[in-house]
Amino acid sequence: MRVLVTGGSGYVGSHTVRELAAAGHEVVIYDNLSTGDRRLSEGFEFIEGEIADGARLAPVLDRVDAVMHFAASAYVGESMTDPRKYFRNNVESALKLIDAVLASPVRTFVFSSTCAVYGIPQACPIDEESRKEPINPYGATKLFFEHVLEAYRVTHGLRYVALRYFNAAGAHASGLIGEIHDPETHLIPLALKAALGSAPPLTIFGSDFDTPDGTCIRDYTHVSDLGSAHVLALEHLAEGGASMSVNLGTGRGTSVREIVDVFHALTGIRIPHQYGPRREGDPPCLYANPARANEVLGWVARRNLEDILTSAWGWHQKFESKTA
Ligand code: UFG
Repeated sequence: MRVLVTGGSGYVGSHTVRELAAAGHEVVIYDNLSTGDRRLSEGFEFIEGEIADGARLAPVLDRVDAVMHFAASAYVGESMTDPRKYFRNNVESALKLIDAVLASPVRTFVFSSTCAVYGIPQACPIDEESRKEPINPYGATKLFFEHVLEAYRVTHGLRYVALRYFNAAGAHASGLIGEIHDPETHLIPLALKAALGSAPPLTIFGSDFDTPDGTCIRDYTHVSDLGSAHVLALEHLAEGGASMSVNLGTGRGTSVREIVDVFHALTGIRIPHQYGPRREGDPPCLYANPARANEVLGWVARRNLEDILTSAWGWHQKFESKTA
């Protein structure tokens, strides 16, 4: 199939386009490079544009079979301080994108959603029917857009899968692409940069959570596994499969402390760190029940925490030496 990938120059988008290509699909990347990095889309057809620009999208939509929509603002913390940016980019502009899709023959849509739609879960693991009460504008915008997709399924015959990722992490096996965010706020890149001495010592946000070691638990899922789930979601829709929202996680929770310890065990290198106060809005524990992804898409996360840390470490050593 030919797939238009909005945000294909971002972290998850760029890994997904490689999974699409490996599965024999053709890719057109559409990105405004506001947070994406042009280097991540090298080797693919690339169009620079805004998702709100229907006139620019129309001719592209005429020559693709499906859309994968990653382009969004995606910092939880920033969404608390600048919510207008999130409602503008993730809702207002995304509505214009979906209007352009509905004006075209394309009806197959894969959406990059998030576990932030759940807010603070009542229990872990989290399945798709868990209560959805986002605690930040980022999660609220993603949940809103899931409602848009469901409404347009009913009224316009749109067919979609919304993939709710837990914590995307790791780097591509080629060593050519990995996680680049500016500013960087995510745990694993900050920890590895601290290990390389290119960032200050890691601050572990909170040591008094109600978890076995007092630090937060998350479900770190390899970004290439997330990419392969998008391919399976596309193929599920192409085969006439039902529209739905699906969790993407390993089903295993890992604490911040464990990340530091496993990295040390793997490399012999200690991540310089200190404990600090909790970060506002951090739920103590988030990990997925990925049963639906397995049953419906035939997906399972194939890479474990060691694979995540090893691939990310390889990438960061190379990337930091290039940018130093
Ligand atoms: N953390 C630290 N120190 C840091 C950075 C993070 O201790 O310097 C901790 C956080 O408190 C959290 C864990 O590491 O417990 C992971 O934090 P990240 O910032 O890497 O990721 P989040 O869990 O906050 O964010 C992820 C996704 C978002 C999603 C969110 C839902 O990246 O897209 O989960 O809560 F919205």
